[in-house]
Amino acid sequence: MEKYNNFNQNKIQDNLKNNISRKTILKIYDKVDSTNNQAKDLIESSIAELKLLKNDKLFVFAADSQLAGRGRRGHSWLSSDPASMAVSFLFKPNSNTDKIPQITAAAALAVQDTFNFFDLKTVIKWPNDILVDHKKICGILSELVLNRKNEAFVVVGCGINLNNEFFASEIQAIATSYYLEKNKKINKNIFLARLIEKIETHITNYFSGSRENIINKWKKRLNLTGKKIDFIHNGEKQTGFIKEVLDSGNLLVVLADGREKELQSATTSLDYQSLSKYND
Ligand code: BTN
Repeated sequence: MEKYNNFNQNKIQDNLKNNISRKTILKIYDKVDSTNNQAKDLIESSIAELKLLKNDKLFVFAADSQLAGRGRRGHSWLSSDPASMAVSFLFKPNSNTDKIPQITAAAALAVQDTFNFFDLKTVIKWPNDILVDHKKICGILSELVLNRKNEAFVVVGCGINLNNEFFASEIQAIATSYYLEKNKKINKNIFLARLIEKIETHITNYFSGSRENIINKWKKRLNLTGKKIDFIHNGEKQTGFIKEVLDSGNLLVVLADGREKELQSATTSLDYQSLSKYND
């Protein structure tokens, strides 16, 4: 029987296009605390391996079971079940390191493209959740990490619900999986191979100069400009019109009293249900 839910290094490599296979360094684990932590450990410990990053190599850390997965804003991320996918990518930014929201945008595009490839339509929820019918199918956590020499690295971790048949009762109403949407399972290795190719396209392009393209594509896919929306900012519920998604990744909104306000993802959560209430 085909093993859908377990990573197999050879199977991933076999499914990569040759040029990508040559540059990908796979680190596959049965169990880890967090794949983002594995990437951080390498940044802190292995100068020899890090040199490979400068030679254009792409490090990929993936685990069948992640026991202490971390989410944004200090939340935890459940992915001890091998039916879900925990994977992190490691990059060495070649310029300004204050652009993490934009790097995460590139990852969101890559995940959405991968789901498109497998015929599942998704929505990117600002800044970088991937949803199907208001339910989350993927979350992305990007972290800036400095090594002992104060060099900056970026770790982009994706938690993807692939073959999950059910979720714990506390998240059932807000989570979905590829299996629950399509009623069929997907081989994790084949999905990861496609994702690596999309990550390579978007994030490597981002670092090598076409960041404007990436950001514009992300803004277009978010499709928020001109929309009225409810949101919670610093714990306070408000309503506003989205004037613009800024290049920084922040949102420029116009409030009911006409004031403009710039919202950062760290302090804001948008209510996507309200989009159809106001804009249909
Ligand atoms: C979120 O939506 O809050 C982001 C969740 C990110 C989870 C992924 S799973 C792989 C990587 N390792 C972690 O510890 N977190 C990210």
